[in-house]
Amino acid sequence: MPKQPIRIAPSILSADFARLGEEVRAIDAAGADYIHIDVMDGHFVPNITIGPGVVKALRPHSAKPFDVHLMIAPVDPYVQAFAEAGADIISFHPEAGPHPHRTVQLIRSLGKKPGIVLNPHTPIEIVDYLLMEVDLVLVMSVNPGFGGQSFITSQLEKIASLRARIDAAVARRGGRPIDLEVDGGINFETAGHAIGAGADVLVAGTATFQGGADAYAANMRRLRGQAG
Ligand code: DX5
Ligand code: ZN
Repeated sequence: MPKQPIRIAPSILSADFARLGEEVRAIDAAGADYIHIDVMDGHFVPNITIGPGVVKALRPHSAKPFDVHLMIAPVDPYVQAFAEAGADIISFHPEAGPHPHRTVQLIRSLGKKPGIVLNPHTPIEIVDYLLMEVDLVLVMSVNPGFGGQSFITSQLEKIASLRARIDAAVARRGGRPIDLEVDGGINFETAGHAIGAGADVLVAGTATFQGGADAYAANMRRLRGQAG
């Protein structure tokens, strides 16, 4: 099975919120593969960020896939609004509703790519009967809610186990890929560990946006370069 390239998904949570459109254009031009958008509700996680209106406002600023990470409960009533706002990938936490499989179907029915997110404590078995239906699995390497936290190293083992399960599922579905994304505490050191364990998409907020717009391209190149 051909390996997917390492991709970088800057989290705009670390961008300057007063200049979000400009920031999205800057990371796009600097080589971002996905635009990672963290949606928090102050209920499922202890922070409030952005809603579908902001996603819609940002859509004209980049043609790159919008990787929308929903940290909200309930999730189902809001999926359509994010789909219509221009999300390409819509990821959610299985703890956010009683019927995760139905949420996956809902996202798919709207023509979007479903992703399932595992919190640091969430056992990998939760993906067993979802994996064939999703396009992305996101491993949280911090507890969701804030940027700038430290990478939880126990998640490396989870990434490695998921790598094997994803490879088997991808083979069973005729090679249609499933991204293995890692989110939280990715820096120039932990990027190498996550890639080594089998991740192929790295979310990076602090690490991408450090040093101002002139550094974005070099930051992302350096993260991607931690492979091998
Ligand atoms: C945390 C968010 C992450 C976060 C990453 O709840 O899902 O995307 O912004 O930020 P850094 O890269 O700074 O850990
Ligand atoms: Zn995120």
